[in-house]
Amino acid sequence: MTPTAAQQRIEDLSRQIEYHNRRYYLDAEPEISDRTYDECHQELIDLEQAFPQFLSPHSPTQRVGGAPLDGFETVTHLQRMMSLDNTYSEEEISTFYNRLLKNLEVKKLPVIIEPKIDGVAVSVIYRNGMLERAATRGDGRSGDDITQNIRTIESLPLRLPKDAPQSFELRGEVYMPREGFDTMNEQRLKDGEQSFANPRNATAGTLKQLDPRVAAHRPLDLIFHGAGWLGDDVDLPSQNAFYELLDQAGLRKGELIWKTDNLDGLLGAIRELDQKRHDLDYETDGAVVKVDDRALQEQLGATSKSPRWAIAFKYQAEQAETRVLSIEIQVGRTGALTPVANLEPVHVSGTTVSRATLHNEEEVERKDVREGDVVIIEKAGEIIPAVVEVKYDQRKGNEKPFEMPTSCPTCDTAVERDPVQVAVRCPNPKCPDKVKRRLRHYAARGAMDIQGLGSASVEQLVEAKLATQISDLYQLDASKLGGLERMGSKSIENLLVGIEASKKQPAWRMLFGLGILHVGSTSSQSLLDHFGSMDAIMKASLEELEAVNDVGTVVAKSLQDYFQAPDGSEELERLRAAGLPFAPNSTAAQADAGPTSDALAETTWVITGTLSQPRDHFAQLIKQHGGKVTGSVSAKTSFLLAGEKAGSKMAKAEKLGVSVLNEEDFLAKLAE
Ligand code: IVH
Repeated sequence: MTPTAAQQRIEDLSRQIEYHNRRYYLDAEPEISDRTYDECHQELIDLEQAFPQFLSPHSPTQRVGGAPLDGFETVTHLQRMMSLDNTYSEEEISTFYNRLLKNLEVKKLPVIIEPKIDGVAVSVIYRNGMLERAATRGDGRSGDDITQNIRTIESLPLRLPKDAPQSFELRGEVYMPREGFDTMNEQRLKDGEQSFANPRNATAGTLKQLDPRVAAHRPLDLIFHGAGWLGDDVDLPSQNAFYELLDQAGLRKGELIWKTDNLDGLLGAIRELDQKRHDLDYETDGAVVKVDDRALQEQLGATSKSPRWAIAFKYQAEQAETRVLSIEIQVGRTGALTPVANLEPVHVSGTTVSRATLHNEEEVERKDVREGDVVIIEKAGEIIPAVVEVKYDQRKGNEKPFEMPTSCPTCDTAVERDPVQVAVRCPNPKCPDKVKRRLRHYAARGAMDIQGLGSASVEQLVEAKLATQISDLYQLDASKLGGLERMGSKSIENLLVGIEASKKQPAWRMLFGLGILHVGSTSSQSLLDHFGSMDAIMKASLEELEAVNDVGTVVAKSLQDYFQAPDGSEELERLRAAGLPFAPNSTAAQADAGPTSDALAETTWVITGTLSQPRDHFAQLIKQHGGKVTGSVSAKTSFLLAGEKAGSKMAKAEKLGVSVLNEEDFLAKLAE
């Protein structure tokens, strides 16, 4: 190919990909299959490699742009980023609206009502059609330059379509969709990491990362709600015209927007939004009311901190008051000590709550939660209740301040602090709590799936000191187990058969089952797909490990630490000796090799609700038949496999017209 032809092809492919991104992310109406899209993307990557002189930093292949930063640069905003006045009462909304009518000397006034997104405020600047800079709000005058992280948000174009205005600044909120947040938190817990308190914290924490590869792996999204500086090619007479600009430029706006020109309509919209906001994929804590006409906005002006043409109406969160009975420490599989509050049982949004996570020491200290305190709890992120407020004024003086123990509550070993993760860990590899959790994780369905090794038998094995590490399982025999109480010959046989059968499991299940910090099931599968065997993974360099999909610096480093530490390497050798799959040609490694049929080829699945077996079981089946499984429903989803009590994923699937199958339909489809 001649350079001229290559340059043209690169431009064509880039524009095509940009167009299909808009169809996919904004319109939820993709025109081409994932496969065709991936092919375009790959062709572009190949051409850019062959003709590096034509590689643009705004190419759709360059989302994860630069190297990790040393720190964020402080940048001055082109226009101040203001905050909003808040109110909790409809009466104050009426006062606000009537005051506007009076000041502007009008009888009717068009206003816009939209959700107040509970995310992190950003300013995004496009100049000459290119994404130039994104910054946090900071103090309103200057903030951090977070362009590298914002570029990883896939719904955000790095370059605008030619026929749209090309230079302007936008204001919006970065957020983490609820489903993505839940999936990420579940995975973090499985990987032995601390969970995030709520999507907002997770978003803020992600934007603060200096390495854009971390942000690229987190499910961030961005919705715009206002304009800042405008270039000469943009004229925005109203907020409505702003939404039109977003549509033209392929930028995301919120999906719920009301326009009305009277008070009844305004209050009606606020109430309607309260009904609908729970179905949105982001958290909202209120409604924002804005004067539509930009000339009138200008005329109304601003106070020192907020505009006079807008106000936020805050909804009451679903909260309840209760008392902290005790604060308990849980020791996780990786030794992380997590404080958990035991509560006087209380009813919140349909369920009885008796425990709330306090996440970590920092969080408890920040809130100063004490045993005996009266607290307000709230259902954050829908499932895990959180303590949002402590009623300090109701203290009697006998409340007990929380102190992170300096030694493990289970084995009394002095704890260690992990400064990066805000975590306190028990370092004792033989800590009975850790061993129990580690064995349970190893035996769990998502890992080695060992029949007969449930939590009761794990408890017994550890208490009887028959197992202090995973490899001990393979040394068990009928005579050792015979002495255990409540363990009859049938259970012993089941357990031994189950353990023996685990040697035939695919190697990724073993790797995941080892419970190495940060190494989840997805990265385990990617690692084995890439290297083919445990032996090859153990020989790989840090760079080689990092080059694998779903494996970042953190995972790669953690693997190497495990392989190099005596505890890890000796355990691996014991497992090898016991006959577990390490070599490339071991039976189990072969079981990993590709689908058993292609009945589900080119289909993408999401699994939700309660099914007759764990979701992993179905995920395995789907993958074995050539399908792909993802965590959240999007326009790319082909099918939703839904069990009992399917919630928001079901609603989303119905909205997007994704086919929903129950378990029976699914099995029938497999049999086809
Ligand atoms: S309009 C004065 N619309 O709330 C700036 N803000 O508490 C006008 N926010 O800094 C803001 N959703 O980051 C507007 N639909 C929405 C919003 C919204 C969230 C944030 C925004 C602002 C903060 C003020």
